[in-house]
Amino acid sequence: MAPGANAARTEEDEGTTLDLDFAQSVLAGLSAAPKTLEPKWLYDALGAKIFEAICELDTYYPTRMEMSLLAARAPEIAESLGKDLILIEPGSGEGVKVRLLLDALAERVAVYVPVDIAAEQLVFLAQSISAAYPDMLVAPVVADFTGAFVLPSDLPDGERVLFFPGSTIGNFEPDEAIALLARLREESQADDLIIGIDTCKDPERLVAAYDDPVGVTASFNKNLLNRINRELGGTFDLAAFRHEARFNAEKSRVEMHLVSLAEQTVTVLGQPIAFAEGETIHTESSHKYAPEDFQALAVRAGWTPDRYWIDDEGLFSLHVVRA
Ligand code: TRP
Repeated sequence: MAPGANAARTEEDEGTTLDLDFAQSVLAGLSAAPKTLEPKWLYDALGAKIFEAICELDTYYPTRMEMSLLAARAPEIAESLGKDLILIEPGSGEGVKVRLLLDALAERVAVYVPVDIAAEQLVFLAQSISAAYPDMLVAPVVADFTGAFVLPSDLPDGERVLFFPGSTIGNFEPDEAIALLARLREESQADDLIIGIDTCKDPERLVAAYDDPVGVTASFNKNLLNRINRELGGTFDLAAFRHEARFNAEKSRVEMHLVSLAEQTVTVLGQPIAFAEGETIHTESSHKYAPEDFQALAVRAGWTPDRYWIDDEGLFSLHVVRA
């Protein structure tokens, strides 16, 4: 990715400047067979807000499970880390989970580096973390962590810890996940990685987590069409598409799709995109891993598994792996 491609775009920019990365990625995805859209585009200012609402849903168990694992295990995790830590969080979002870790680590974190594509949310997070932990330096980086990103050049020496909760790694294809975990280690020179992983379980429960009765996840998915309309002059009729979550057993993942309810043609940046009735746009996958399967993946990315914790029902796991 070209330097500057990660530059922050605020809400005011939207609709006035064309984000070339977004345009190219959308046109390529919608011209492919089957049609896809890259999940990172789900997180504009509104998407980031809707995502927060997803995490509050009764049906969306991963956030609750991970928070309670973190709250219970943060002291043990903290014990296994040194002092003068540099804590780096790719995809920091709302930053609720990192507080559980920061509370357990007390004064041992010298610098917290949140990295996120949602610029506004990131600025807000940096301010609120600074206020809550006045002795800690907060060095936010506005960047899409799926591409190369640059850490602040003046970071002090110290043990570097990556924090990657939310089973976000599951949103990548296994090969991409391995490449990303390897790249994160190399680029950030990390010593440790603390990562949350959703386990594979009853498909009904899995699908319910991605297709809630309130329709929040549906609006999160459809917001992407809205964003294409707003920023790329798209003509999507949101009522002509339906959100669908499917379990793909062979790939051990839940897939989110937008299903065309009719045969229709949509234009994006003046380019016609034809849909058959029932044709879908695959917008995101969420891969599920048993603890041993995740550890094997981490090994392939050059990490050494250390400890992991899992809740009594086996719904979610929290791993520590070392460089
Ligand atoms: N990574 C989490 C998961 O796959 C959270 C997430 C990402 C999510 N995109 C989502 C949850 C879309 C619901 C819908 O579960």
